[in-house]
Amino acid sequence: MTTDKIAGLIEQMTLDEKIGMIHGNAFFHTKGVERLGVPPFIFSDGPMGVRKEYYDDKWYDDPHHADYASYLPSNTAIAATWNPELARKSGRVLGKEARGRGKDMILAPGINIMRSPLCGRNFEYMGEDPCLTANIAVPLIEGIQENDVSACVKHFAVNSQETQRLGINEEVDERTLREIYFPAFKAAVQKAKSRAIMGAYNQLNGQYCCQNEYLLKKVLRNDWKYEGLTVSDWGGVTETNAAAMNGMDVEMNINANFDEYYFANPLKEKILAGEIPESVVDEKVRNILNLMNEIHMLDGDRKPATYNDYRDKEDLLETARESVVLLKNDGVLPIKREKGKKILVVGDNANRAHAPGGGSGEIKALYELTPLMGISMLSGGSMKIVYEPGYESPNPGDIWDQERKESWQAASLAQAAGLEQEVDLNDVCEYMTPEQIEKNKELFAKAVEAAKDADLVIFVGGLNHDYDTEGKDRRNMILPYGQDELIGAIHEVNPNLVVVINAGSPVDMRSFRDKARAIVYEWYCGMEGGRALGEVLYGEVNPSGRLPETMPLKDEDVPPLHFGVYPGNRVAEHKEGIYVGYRYYVTHKVPTAFPFGFGLSYTDFEKKNLAVSTDEDGNTLVELEISNVGSEKGKDTVQIYVEPVNPCIDRPTRELKGFAKVELEAGETKKVALKLDAMAFAYYSVEKECFVAKAGDYRIVAAAHAEDDGICQMTKLVKDVCMDR
Ligand code: GLC
Repeated sequence: MTTDKIAGLIEQMTLDEKIGMIHGNAFFHTKGVERLGVPPFIFSDGPMGVRKEYYDDKWYDDPHHADYASYLPSNTAIAATWNPELARKSGRVLGKEARGRGKDMILAPGINIMRSPLCGRNFEYMGEDPCLTANIAVPLIEGIQENDVSACVKHFAVNSQETQRLGINEEVDERTLREIYFPAFKAAVQKAKSRAIMGAYNQLNGQYCCQNEYLLKKVLRNDWKYEGLTVSDWGGVTETNAAAMNGMDVEMNINANFDEYYFANPLKEKILAGEIPESVVDEKVRNILNLMNEIHMLDGDRKPATYNDYRDKEDLLETARESVVLLKNDGVLPIKREKGKKILVVGDNANRAHAPGGGSGEIKALYELTPLMGISMLSGGSMKIVYEPGYESPNPGDIWDQERKESWQAASLAQAAGLEQEVDLNDVCEYMTPEQIEKNKELFAKAVEAAKDADLVIFVGGLNHDYDTEGKDRRNMILPYGQDELIGAIHEVNPNLVVVINAGSPVDMRSFRDKARAIVYEWYCGMEGGRALGEVLYGEVNPSGRLPETMPLKDEDVPPLHFGVYPGNRVAEHKEGIYVGYRYYVTHKVPTAFPFGFGLSYTDFEKKNLAVSTDEDGNTLVELEISNVGSEKGKDTVQIYVEPVNPCIDRPTRELKGFAKVELEAGETKKVALKLDAMAFAYYSVEKECFVAKAGDYRIVAAAHAEDDGICQMTKLVKDVCMDR
């Protein structure tokens, strides 16, 4: 439909019809204009799949029975693959299933930068680095949007904690925003052409994000030339004028008083009173119609799609496989299948479904293979696999716990209320009843007893959506439910111990890092996660995951905790500024448990012959060779860090500016080439209000992770280059 036709449609609409299009008149859709052939616009969560159906106006799931869906690896798991092509494939599945379920927009991906390992929603995001996040988010969004649906990248911006999430004021300086918290959103807008962006609940520098003039007008529309739609988080708008005038297009909320939304009668009254020009509403409706037009909602020529296709499981399995990170291995892995071998699997997470939890990212999964299933299915039939929970969460994670009860979201705007609520950090163990505590003592003893005569013990612990969840932050990184003590007690009776951490955020590993013979990190990696883990443990898959976030040694080393500003109370002061994650640990030489970008393989790789040159366009070409010097086929990810030499301003020692993942047969060598533009050398100049790549010397480092010296070459920028913010 042409621009003129869209303008014509708007001219024919009454004010009521236009108002009906720009606010929810159900939890997950807005009104259409049937007489003009404009359908309602339908939204659905979330990053890990298409959420189950709810009634339009009650937070009870509609007994739909046909809304089981594919359960994708979490955004953190996808980032842990460091594989943009798998991100694209995962996005394609997500977009296809959204289309197949009749949705117009999937509220994904989450791309907020991980400021603290304790944030409850880290699992929905892509780690601590803007370069990795941008390079995973862009193909994922493109994959989604191939299916005549819209992605909705979220939450813009600096939604870095859940504590007081509806009101916390994130105080962040301009340089930190431009260098750390904005780049992934900028890439989503300018490279992926995300058709929608969701405003965050929190305030940024004193104004709510969903009505923030700096964010929605200056940054999004003026600086980045964004032409897509802006959608509020559900309840993110707190007043009519600011939201209407500062560029929020569609207001959604969790309450059923749809006509009382800020963009409903209150806005209509202001227009009729001449307080707000009707053209402001026309602009919002135009953005909606443009998006509808792009996804062929108006011309009927829209791609059909289906969901739960078995072929898509291959892509989800591939992503899960490549997300598993091997952190330590003394050779105990891969497990040899030997007749009669007894393997004891311990841990609540070995037999727990994660799909139904986490908040709005919940999924009614068609199925979910647990780690115990994966370890058992692939054992070969001649070994004895025994399971002991060892502990239980107060909230049993029953895989089929789909009984209809009111969703947590009904009260979510009260639960994580704004600023009146005192900081209440999350530890469900505090609510365990005496009976549950007693039961866990019995489970503990049983697990230790069973470990005595096992040939190998695989402990599958970590976190779950009691802790990795929307609306709450963790109190600390310590493993809950007494796992540290249980791991220690098992190790006492049987040192043949492999620890698998199944979690969506970093945990404190000090108690077992030296005791475990191997440590594997498996994120919430979807319906095929258990199979992927089993394949890695038995060696059918050579692990190639790399950490998208640092595993700090202890809480007090984490920058915002170190500076005493996390989670804050009413104000979250970003004292650490740009020194987020490895930028802090490497620059200030703070030891970590495992660094950003770290991951082992069952084979070994060598990097050599690094060459750095400048092409005719002034870009920096980085070439090197990677060899597989081991005996197994495997995949390696080379990470390119840029280190300014004697910088003119305070800068991190090194920053990730590119990466490449390659598969190599045993003994094979491949050449890898990457191109760095001037932005790869730049910092944000607040006074010049632009990015500046300063003339001078830089080290280009090809490394295995953020703390690896790697191999390095010098390069020089001969003149200053200024670039758009
Ligand atoms: C939630 C979340 C957001 C989600 C929306 C709709 O509160 O913050 O990520 O997409 O509301 O459920």
